[in-house]
Amino acid sequence: MDVLKAKYLDLIGKADSESGLEDLRIAALGKKGEISLQMRELGKMSPEERQTAGPALNALKDEINSALVAKKAALGDAALDERLRGEWLDVTLPARGRPLGSIHPISQVTEEVTAIFADMGFSVAEGPQIESDWYNFDALNIPGHHPARAEMDTFYTHRAEGDNRPPHVLRTHTSPVQIRSLEANGAPIRIICPGRVYRADYDQTHTPMFHQVEGLAIDKDISMANLKWCLEEFVKAFFEVDQVDLRFRASHFPFTEPSAEVDIRCSWEGGTLKVGEGDDWLEILGSGMVHPKVLQAAGVDPSVYQGFAFGVGIDRIAMLKYGIPDLRAFFDSDLRWLRHYGFRSLDVPTLHGGLSK
Ligand code: DAH
Repeated sequence: MDVLKAKYLDLIGKADSESGLEDLRIAALGKKGEISLQMRELGKMSPEERQTAGPALNALKDEINSALVAKKAALGDAALDERLRGEWLDVTLPARGRPLGSIHPISQVTEEVTAIFADMGFSVAEGPQIESDWYNFDALNIPGHHPARAEMDTFYTHRAEGDNRPPHVLRTHTSPVQIRSLEANGAPIRIICPGRVYRADYDQTHTPMFHQVEGLAIDKDISMANLKWCLEEFVKAFFEVDQVDLRFRASHFPFTEPSAEVDIRCSWEGGTLKVGEGDDWLEILGSGMVHPKVLQAAGVDPSVYQGFAFGVGIDRIAMLKYGIPDLRAFFDSDLRWLRHYGFRSLDVPTLHGGLSK
């Protein structure tokens, strides 16, 4: 019995799997197991012998059984430990952001401009990119012979042979939306019109397609002073500075009288633009009081209503604000550029939440 006990306790100790343990259980305690066979021998013994051998064998059987159970539990624990080690993961690690794509600077700046003017009571209007020459030119007091037509490097569409109507154009500016909105809604009106415009021009600061935002405010008592205030508020909010100096430079546009180009005071010290300080001036937009002929063309009585308009290059102010050197890169769809200059998709620009964060 001592030999059996030593043998099985040793084997159980060395077992390294549950199936190995089961084999040992069968070898010791199964129907034909070594210990079971010994138990059978009891019947052949004398009552005296049986009195000592019986309890001893039972004790051995119990001992082997408990050793098997204990070892089985130990193997289970070890397996669980092993699995836990393999599946370990640090749930306190911050989540890894998956790229959702980014917001293009043009979209971002359009949203920023919209947020600023929405705060001043302007709503957003849109018009078609393929425009009749009447909306793009005539209604804006740019008649057929006017040099502004040639200056704008207009893209014209083709008419069928024998069709003598004037061709449509890819709109050269967002100003035709002034006419369309006034026709549709009349005065008073306060709108901005962001969108794509087209001119046949291509270099570091010009692309054949670019973006403008038009502003229009028409009512019974609107003056240049209102224009100036609106633009100052806009520039301060857009460039996220407390103070700006604007310079209204007399200019000429057929659709405004008087007309002004607006410059902002800035510095280029160290190669980066700072708005509101320095001795340089940077032209950022065209503006003026809407010409009476334009109001007339849009069906608005200029003896009752007047107002201001302005046009800003979205791409241009995006380049200035975000230090983007080449306009052409805006439209290259280069992922590295988009990742660098793009904005997080879930950050919507608002005046209270911060325009650009
Ligand atoms: N339409 C002009 C352009 O594209 C910009 C402009 C100037 C718009 C003066 C206006 C304005 O509304 O008043 O060059």
